[in-house]
Amino acid sequence: MIPALRLAPTDHVVDFGCGSGSLLDVIHSRIEHYTGVDFSPDFISYAEKRVAEAGITNARFECSQIVDFCARHPAEFDIAVSVDMAGYLNDAEFERVHAAIRGSLNPRGRLFLYMANGAFWLERLKKRGLAPVSAAPYSSVRTAPEYLELLRQSGFGDVRVSFTPHYNALRRLHFLSGLPVVGGTFRAKVLVEARR
Ligand SMILES: C[S@@+](CC[C@H](N)C(=O)[O-])C[C@H]1O[C@@H](n2cnc3c(N)ncnc32)[C@H](O)[C@@H]1O
Repeated sequence: MIPALRLAPTDHVVDFGCGSGSLLDVIHSRIEHYTGVDFSPDFISYAEKRVAEAGITNARFECSQIVDFCARHPAEFDIAVSVDMAGYLNDAEFERVHAAIRGSLNPRGRLFLYMANGAFWLERLKKRGLAPVSAAPYSSVRTAPEYLELLRQSGFGDVRVSFTPHYNALRRLHFLSGLPVVGGTFRAKVLVEARR
């Protein structure tokens, strides 16, 4: 997904639901500044320790609910990223959180949302109870049209979607995503780009 972000050396990037901040490892040398936001104190202290040990200086972390953080940082960021975070949110929370994220972007800002694709064959099996599911609260895996609709309802205008391979061994099946009719069930991950 990194090439799709089209990062610039002047970019201020915010990573919502950053966890241990692993995105920072692959983007810190390409941007001006990174902010990681997560409501888990354990993840934030682990991320801060990890980044200090790595000697990365253009980053900071904040332990906060996303909505509260955005209220404190209006129109500030060039790029907002969320990786595997939106699955924590039911539809009402999704709209509230993403309207807040939109408010944290500057007028040229862009959001990149990366999530499992609800149309992927494995996610379909999970929905039918035929494959093991992750523990709650990680529960809302959606299809691309569902992400698009929710982002539009959250206020985002220009929204577009692409599909990426899985990051585990299932990526080897990605070539099947080009097949007619059944190709959609082999698209493991959705990457949505939305302009403020
Ligand atoms: C599956 S983890 C992904 C972590 C990281 N993005 C990664 O790819 O390694 C999702 C993270 O989102 C955080 N999170 C979920 N909802 C949140 C919210 N409303 N405010 C802040 N953090 C949230 C969780 O604490 C968790 O660390």
